[in-house]
Amino acid sequence: MQTIKEYVQSNKDRFLEELFALLRFPSVSADPKYKNDVVKTAEFVAQKLKDAGADKVEVCPTAGNPIVYGEKIIDPALPTVLVYGHYDVQPADPLELWETPPFEPTVRDGKIYARGAADDKGQFYMHVKAFEYMIANQALSCNIKFMIEGEEEVGSVNLGTFVKENTERLKSDVIVISDTSMISLEQPSIETGLRGLSYVEVEVTGPNRDLHSGVYGGAVANPATILAKLIASLHDENNHIAIPGFYDDVLELSPAEREALNKAPFDIEEYKQDLGVGDIFGEKGFTTIERTGIRPTLEVNGIWGGYIGEGAKTVLPSKAFAKISMRLVPNQNSERVTELFKKHFEGIAPAYVKVEVKPHHGGEPVVTPTDSIAYKAAEKALEEAFNKKPIPTRGGGSIPIVALFEKELNVKTVLLGFGLDSDNLHSPNEKYGIENYLKGIETIPSFFKYFAELSK
Ligand code: BES
Ligand code: MN
Ligand code: MN
Repeated sequence: MQTIKEYVQSNKDRFLEELFALLRFPSVSADPKYKNDVVKTAEFVAQKLKDAGADKVEVCPTAGNPIVYGEKIIDPALPTVLVYGHYDVQPADPLELWETPPFEPTVRDGKIYARGAADDKGQFYMHVKAFEYMIANQALSCNIKFMIEGEEEVGSVNLGTFVKENTERLKSDVIVISDTSMISLEQPSIETGLRGLSYVEVEVTGPNRDLHSGVYGGAVANPATILAKLIASLHDENNHIAIPGFYDDVLELSPAEREALNKAPFDIEEYKQDLGVGDIFGEKGFTTIERTGIRPTLEVNGIWGGYIGEGAKTVLPSKAFAKISMRLVPNQNSERVTELFKKHFEGIAPAYVKVEVKPHHGGEPVVTPTDSIAYKAAEKALEEAFNKKPIPTRGGGSIPIVALFEKELNVKTVLLGFGLDSDNLHSPNEKYGIENYLKGIETIPSFFKYFAELSK
């Protein structure tokens, strides 16, 4: 029997090659033109699960992209771990900003560059390889179920139905997800919360057609200008969100909890330099760690209208648009916040324009326990692999399904993430450290071992 360290060492090249093969599929869920690639990716993942030793492997169709399921039940008396991940990726554009093509994984400086490298192919695939090791070495100490979906990046729209229709099949004692970040390889950490999301699109309509900006400009409201003003009014001078009722349900942390949160290592100068910004910014009265972890936010994700082609066109556009998202914290509710936004934004529209707010997908915030067996098992496993005790942090991103798992399956999640915030998720030149990948594979079997031990 080999130790996981030895196994990783002797299979390293293959583990990388297989991940590269997975990364070569352009499984972009947002764009229907990749539908074929998405399905092929699901089939690839299913095959890899079979090869690693999973039973009942199935590419489950949904109204959208398929969900890959597989399991290994070794003894019904043992605890069951459900591994969740997503094989879909964000669109790769703007393509011209990639140093190497997004779907041709390339190693530079010890990092794998490709769309999906960290989010989430490189991370969920660690579980497939750790599983392979546990099977090959009779080291599996829990039952295991895999559920790898293909619509996380578009709001997991069909996963809710799948979960509801498969509660028996998905029955488990804990859900493990590697789709978040840790502080660094020197300071491992475990995210213990994710923010929720409200996402809307707004449309501002002025005149009933595009107009000559000389003939009509100055006499008719320009929807682009009005949209900019409306958006600017959504924050006050302290960068608080100025939507009435927005903060009503926000759970405030105690001074002790805030102090603990702010103990995490964080270098503001390094942060500014990494992002190329002259100064940081945000809600008054809160630190950067708090602003991205325990406070809700409102961001414009895109804004357009009028002429944006080559050269100049003197036009007063009929319409202007924006995509706006709000990150939510406990105990905010996405439907309620979306409703508040809609009411407010449509309400402040002046008579010279029409404003319409269209809600998109949402997701609820979650906090995961730090006093559970699963958290303790994760803590021990990370400490063993990184020689340092991991610290709890709050994640700024969202994985809406976590709250849904809790609601539908009554099972809590451990966020065993190995990415870094600087991995360029959703950006050009997404990357994942080879060391993060291999260390992740090394950590996972210990998690299973400790989870089984502590569950006794
Ligand atoms: N893996 C991310 C979420 C994430 C990233 C959590 C980093 C914590 C740290 C996930 O794939 C993601 O991008 N989720 C979306 C939400 C979804 C509804 C589109 C997000 O956070 O924007
Ligand atoms: Mn992800
Ligand atoms: Mn993502």
